Amino acid sequence: MCGIVGYIGQKKACPILIEGLRQLEYRGYDSAGISVINENGIFTAKSAGRVQELENKIGEKEVFGEVGIAHTRWATHGKPSDKNSHPHGDCKNNISVVHNGIIENYRELKDFLIKKKHKFSSETDSEVVAHLLEEFSKKMDFKLAVFEALKLIKGTYGLAIINSREPEKIIVARNGSPLVMGIGDGEYIIASDTSAIVRHTDKVIYFDDGEVAEITRDGFNVTNIRNKNIKKSITTLDWTVEKSQKGGFDHFMLKEIFEQPETIFNSIRGRYISTEGNAKLGGMEGVIDRIRKVEKIVIVGCGTARLAGMVGEYMLEEYAGIPTEVDYAHEFRYRKSVIDEKTALIAISQSGETADTLAAVREAKEKGALTLGIVNVVGSTIARETDAGVYTHSGPEIAVASTKAFTSQLAVMTLITVLFGRQRQMSLVTGQRIIRELDQIPAKIKKILSDNKEILKVAKKYHQYENFAYLGRKYNHPIAFEGAIKLKELTYIHAEGFASGEMKHGPIAMIDGNFPCVFVAPRDSVYEKNFSGIQEIKARGGKVIAIATVGDKEMAKVADDVIYIPKTLEMLTPILAAIPLQLFAYHMAVLNKKDVDKPRNLAKSVTVE
Ligand code: AGP
Repeated sequence: MCGIVGYIGQKKACPILIEGLRQLEYRGYDSAGISVINENGIFTAKSAGRVQELENKIGEKEVFGEVGIAHTRWATHGKPSDKNSHPHGDCKNNISVVHNGIIENYRELKDFLIKKKHKFSSETDSEVVAHLLEEFSKKMDFKLAVFEALKLIKGTYGLAIINSREPEKIIVARNGSPLVMGIGDGEYIIASDTSAIVRHTDKVIYFDDGEVAEITRDGFNVTNIRNKNIKKSITTLDWTVEKSQKGGFDHFMLKEIFEQPETIFNSIRGRYISTEGNAKLGGMEGVIDRIRKVEKIVIVGCGTARLAGMVGEYMLEEYAGIPTEVDYAHEFRYRKSVIDEKTALIAISQSGETADTLAAVREAKEKGALTLGIVNVVGSTIARETDAGVYTHSGPEIAVASTKAFTSQLAVMTLITVLFGRQRQMSLVTGQRIIRELDQIPAKIKKILSDNKEILKVAKKYHQYENFAYLGRKYNHPIAFEGAIKLKELTYIHAEGFASGEMKHGPIAMIDGNFPCVFVAPRDSVYEKNFSGIQEIKARGGKVIAIATVGDKEMAKVADDVIYIPKTLEMLTPILAAIPLQLFAYHMAVLNKKDVDKPRNLAKSVTVE
């Protein structure tokens, strides 16, 4: 997700735009830029790096003009660079556009425009908007040109547009990406969210999908893309800047947990062909033949990322029939791992900068392996150094504790499993079934999130305990470890993950009434074994918090507390089971008055070995 800002009023636009970008930097911070209309046309400055780099680039230059737009980027198409930064202009620099969202059909639009002799200067999807407007405004009023362009665009957008031929207005449009407008005294500030507005006014209008607004100093007019007028109500804000950046949530972590229906949707959108029961991963197309020859897979990562790989191991072996092993990236480097050109190394990393994981990638490349990345940050080092890969499109993950990035890693792992599997023994029907179920995951996550208050109740009951065991088996064995790491890193409470079958080989000796067990036990192929394991714990006076499948009444008779998740394919239960464990750890941290978004001793990206 990116941040866009626009200003039209009596004041110089540049400082207001820069300040707005600063407030939106948490939405994306790999590059930034501004465009301001002045008597010579449109002044544009843009730069890779944070907003400070943009300010340095503008330097002492006096930027005149009271109408402008600005953008801070979270790259999705095209690596972070000066030329890929927004705003994007048309061929003659009469039009400037900033965009938040993903244009799914940008390639065909770009081809159409190149045939019309348009010259592109970036690798982004967003630039097509400026050239579409240039093309259509050759033969119609600019606002009508905006409508025509929007009718062609498939995907999501929050757009702000300026045109030097109509210097006294800004046009904005929303579809799928947030857009809000602050109403000042003879001035208007448009932004992706209210954190860039609250300093200027508390009167705002929230735009809805399909709406277009033409804004001048004297007022604004809102229509749909068929130019039908729409009446908008004005809201009075009572939020601080900080509250705005968190979208009204108390912490970034909670906001990011609640973003997961959307981030899972974004991680799978346009990445499968239902009729063929197959995945369509653009970032893997260049190595599709090498993938066919892969005979062994090694998955590396650190912390939560590695646990996503552990789930992937079960997926790949069951559905692609490929021998798979998972290792800590920081251990892989010291092993004499048997890898060669028939091995694929999958590196999983939210930041794409984890030094240990990067070192493992380099080691594997040295040995001729095919290196693939599952990375969130576009243009990050691991993304650039792996031979191919798939971005998770989770948007910036600000909280140190990884939540939405983790579940998106699992979703992408599922697609990669389908891609590998369908080249081998996976049937069309199986591929279609997996894809159909994956498609329903966002809605199922929403259902779990609606039980947040129930999960808080459970956390209140247990927040003073000092030791926890997390248990799971098969696909949810890694989720037991993920639940434990969440609790540890957020509350500093001792929590240990176990494969549930391991308990009777020693760890169960620890269990008593002061050592609660969180047991991930959905209705799956190992349910009975887990159910017995829960009974063994209960028989020793242990307390059990079970993560169970909706409707499992038997579990409610045995466990002390049950948090339910909807039914899904066994291989997809980890995505659902992770959600209550994230919320449980979050509430435990709040109840224990910890710094949820920035736990002690930790960094968001561990770039040292
Ligand atoms: C997860 O909650 C932790 N913050 C940590 O384990 C993290 O997953 C690990 O450091 C790997 O980071 P990466 O995904 O950016 O490589």
